[in-house]
Amino acid sequence: MQKFMIMGGNRLQGTVRVNGSKNATLPIMAASLLQEGRCTIKGVPRLRDVAVMRDVLVYLGASVAWEKDVMHIDAGGVNCQEVSEELMRRMRASNLVLGSLVGRFRRAKISYPGGCQIGTRPMNLHLKGLQALGATITEKYGYITAQAEKLRGSEIYFDVPSVGATENLMMAAVMAEGTTVIRNAAKEPEIIDLQNFLNRMGAKIRGAGTDTIKITGVDSLHGAEHAVIPDRIEAGTHMVAAAITCGDVLITNVIPEHLEPVINKLREAGINVEVKDDRVRVWAGKRPLAVDIKTMPYPGFPTDMQPQFMALMTVAEGTSVITETIFENRFKHVMELRRMGADIRLEGQTAVVKGVPALSGAYVEATDLRAGAALVLAALAAENGTVLERVEHIDRGYERLENKYNALGARIIRVHK
Ligand code: EPZ
Repeated sequence: MQKFMIMGGNRLQGTVRVNGSKNATLPIMAASLLQEGRCTIKGVPRLRDVAVMRDVLVYLGASVAWEKDVMHIDAGGVNCQEVSEELMRRMRASNLVLGSLVGRFRRAKISYPGGCQIGTRPMNLHLKGLQALGATITEKYGYITAQAEKLRGSEIYFDVPSVGATENLMMAAVMAEGTTVIRNAAKEPEIIDLQNFLNRMGAKIRGAGTDTIKITGVDSLHGAEHAVIPDRIEAGTHMVAAAITCGDVLITNVIPEHLEPVINKLREAGINVEVKDDRVRVWAGKRPLAVDIKTMPYPGFPTDMQPQFMALMTVAEGTSVITETIFENRFKHVMELRRMGADIRLEGQTAVVKGVPALSGAYVEATDLRAGAALVLAALAAENGTVLERVEHIDRGYERLENKYNALGARIIRVHK
């Protein structure tokens, strides 16, 4: 268990570069299993979740070489289609190998990824989609097995635009016979990045980024090279770090249109945001104004930015109403923020945040990845010191966050217990 000791009160100033997207890297790594050759992925962030996915690929028989931010995956040696319970428990997104294993071997067996801190995380849409392609699904003893004699293209409608289900179905359908159409598909930028990678491998996919994706089955795929898109949630987190500390930060390696809802909300809160090519400058001279947010599927306000934005609203002028519509249990950071003096009232899926002039440091704990990030942001702005426990959650989605913020003037020490 590791913790951060954070001394608040410094304005963050300077330049910080965003790494490659965790949520683009993970499905692309899984997609490399669809063929026997070598895939090279560039811009791979050094994150715990990426290391877990590497372990999953190696467990299945692939060989993975990972130097700095370049990863080579040779999937010719994949000789297993089952992912162990231990590996599945380490990361829910391991379920992304379901689509690629079914797509290549017509068979996959994974243990139920189960719920996590932010919600039950069901897989019904993943399984409904695979069944539509002709797979037989059996669920026993906590394991899911998908098996198909043949995969046939089909029309699939998702009740909710699930990111993971969209990605799994894209991968399962690339070599199915005929055409598959996914309706009410998720539209996140990471879906477009997966489509681009799969098409480089020889797939025929159109429509990612819209709610209808069309996949024309091909006989086989081959290795490809790809550079993943920047991480829009990391970028958004740094924008809030600049805002909450009344700092002035230039964030580079950004695709601004991926951040439109976050940029608009920060401007509504009176924060200065200047967009230029692949960089965004954020600066604030005073307390933010309270604004309301409601999380929605892309291109709405991202649920993965809700905890971080709530941290900002705890010190805003006025009262903000924050509604979480994606996950049913994504307010675990509220208790911890309250320990720092935040005034937050929960009413079901809504948090009413009454801004206070300042937070005070406290003993707090990261309960999940983005809640942990939110607590770092709150601690940067708080008076005196904060001890933040269980920072391994933060390492799942941010590369050495303390180094990035210390380079901007923060005072964070990582303590290894
Ligand atoms: C992806 O998770 C992201 N993870 C999450 O980021 C992100 O919060 C989420 O999409 C929403 O944007 C990765 O990309 C690795 P979903 P995923 O399936 O695919 C319901 C982070 O912090 N649902 O889009 O698991 C589900 O309960 C992580 O980086 C079903 O009902 O999310 C939820 O309410 C956290 N049935 C909604 O859909 C299903 O079969 C959205 O979930 C699948 C999902």
